[in-house]
This record gives sequence, C-alpha cells and structure tokens, in this order.
Amino acid sequence: MIPILDLKAQYQSIKDEINEAVQGVLESGRFILGPNVEALEKEVAEYCQCRHGVGVASGTDALCLSLHALGIGPGDEVITTPFSFVATASTISRAGATPVFVDIDPRTFNLDPDEVEIAITSKTKAIMPVHLFGQPAEMGPIMEIANQRGLKVIEDAAQAIGAEENGRRVGSFGDVGCFSFYPTKNLGAYGDGGMVTTNDPALAEKIDVLRRQGSKRKYHNEVLGFNSRLDEIQAALLRVKFKYLEEWVAERQRVARLYSALLSQAGVETPYERPGVRHVYHQYTICVACRDELRIYLQEQGIGAMIYYPVPLHRLKLYADLDYPAGSLEFSEQAAREVLSLPMYPELTDDQIQTVVDAIKSFCG
Ligand SMILES: Cc1ncc(COP(=O)(O)O)c(C=O)c1O
Repeated sequence: MIPILDLKAQYQSIKDEINEAVQGVLESGRFILGPNVEALEKEVAEYCQCRHGVGVASGTDALCLSLHALGIGPGDEVITTPFSFVATASTISRAGATPVFVDIDPRTFNLDPDEVEIAITSKTKAIMPVHLFGQPAEMGPIMEIANQRGLKVIEDAAQAIGAEENGRRVGSFGDVGCFSFYPTKNLGAYGDGGMVTTNDPALAEKIDVLRRQGSKRKYHNEVLGFNSRLDEIQAALLRVKFKYLEEWVAERQRVARLYSALLSQAGVETPYERPGVRHVYHQYTICVACRDELRIYLQEQGIGAMIYYPVPLHRLKLYADLDYPAGSLEFSEQAAREVLSLPMYPELTDDQIQTVVDAIKSFCG
C-alpha cells in the first residue's frame, strides 16, 4: 500500500519535539496571538524574503484578508487561473469582485502571462497568480504587466512555500503572498492555518487589524474586521516543522527526480520545470490521456493517486452565471481531463517510487 501522502510517517519522525511544543503551549495558558505566532511570523517572513508575516486562520483567509486590505470589492475584476483550488476564485467572489479566468500554460499549469495581458479591462484591479503544485508562476512578466498597468498582485502561494524564481522566493514578488498551513501542505499544521507575507508595513498592519476584529486596541474597533488568527498550538508545532522544511523540500526533489528519470525511460511525459525556478514539488503531476483508467488501475494495486483538479473553476456550477462555455479555456480543460498526481512526500522510498513506476509501466505496456 503506497498512499498519496503519509502524514503519520512524518509525525513519527518528529513526535517527541511536536508533543513537547504542544505541551509547552498547554502549560503556558496562552492560546491566541502569543509568542509562538510572533516568532513563526518572523521566521516565515524571513524565509520568504519578506519584511512582514501575519498569521491567520487559513490560506483561504490569507487571500480574503489580503483582498480586503487592498481595497478590492464590488465592481472590480481580478484576473486569475481557472486551474486551481476553489479558494483562489471564491475569495475574489467573497470580496464582492469578479474573478476573470484566463488560460494556463499547459506545460506548467500556471497562468499564461500573454493571456493575462489580453484580459485587462478598465475594471481590472489585481492579478492573482497561483504557484501550482509548488512551481512558481511566471512572476517576471506578471510583475511587469502589473507595474505597467498599475495593478495589485496577490500571490496564491498556498502550495509553494520556499519555491523560487531566479533566486527570489514566492510571496515576495507581489503586494502580498498568501500561504496555507493546511495539514497536507509542504509546511502543514495539525489543523487549519495560514500566513500573509508582505514588504509593505502599512499593508501588514491593515491585515493584522483585520484579523483581530478590526481593532488595534481591544474593544476600540476601528474597521469592520474578521476573526482570523493563527493559534498558538499550531504556531508552536509549525515552528518545529519549519526547522525541517528545507530537508523535506530536498527529499521531495529527490522523489521528483527519481520519478522523472524512471518515467521518461518508460515513455511517460514528466512534469516540466521552467529554467531558473526552484520547484518544491507539493505535487508530482503527470498528464495521461487515459487518466481515469490509470487511476483505477493504481488503486487496485494499492497505490494512491489523486486528481487535482477534475473541474476547472470556470466550469464549476458555482460559476455557471459567469457563462464560460465548454472549450473556452482549452488548456485548463485539457489539464482537468488528463492530470494525475502520484504519491509524493519526503519519506517516500526509492523502492516505493520504483513500485509506482512499475505499475504505471505495466498499465501502459
Ligand atoms: C492553491 C490554493 N489556494 C488556496 C488554498 C486554501 O488554503 P486553506 O485550505 O488553508 O484555506 C489552497 C489549499 O487548500 C490551495 O491549494
């Protein structure tokens, strides 16, 4: 049995440290916005080459609060990718703005900057690129477009902590970077959590105020806020895990390299890494025409494989009223039909990788 990911294996490897960290918080009696949150904010911000980090309740809230702090609302358009998790677009809709979906580059599954340029209207306020599966979106051209057209950039970096383009970390390109600590993420909590990174102190302060019911001083609320704080228990255990993040990224890259070497020998097309990027392999995703059959076959062999994502966002019932006809965003729709993510986690052994590849070979053969 080879699962798509194995959170228990990771816990076993750091169990004593995690238990001690959680125990420490329980004994401190300080559960919300305490020293661990503050320390984690500093550590993650620095790691992301940013001046500020603000811990929030989830990656979804990181996006929500960022949109709010940037003043994006009714009547505004935000250009984004339809090949992502729903929160990328739903947070735009929640803010009262309209997501404008443009197609992806089929090699990277990330926003195609040429398509972004074409979609800009007088209502466009921001671009929200997603660094999907751990590979940075094309931030060079995206930032150039944003700077020329006076648009905000909200990086959805939920899947890509530590990823780089030309030595620069994701989350440091745009106005804000939004991270998720959902348990399955490369840096995952044991519950929900998220963070916003930014180099703009005023924006960091706005998000800080928004997360605590819109008040700098308790019971003296200045603006309409949210309750969205990262809690101390999650922050304490995330700080333990954070120490291992680079090691785990290296292991993910080892897994990806071996998959790619073995799969290309078998004639399977392997994930494309753009030159100059550091891909952190949140997912290892291949494209195959007979994807659904392959997934069932792998399941029968005791191998977990998942489809991220089976329906592109513009084709969700949720967005039926936006009227994107079938076939309108060709590469996103093709990806939704063909992608399959294989088991990927730092503890995956070379033998297990070989077993997955052998199963794929015997299916194809
Ligand atoms: C691309 C992307 N954006 C946003 C989110 C939302 O994060 P969360 O689940 O922490 O709210 C996720 C993950 O779940 C994601 O993968």
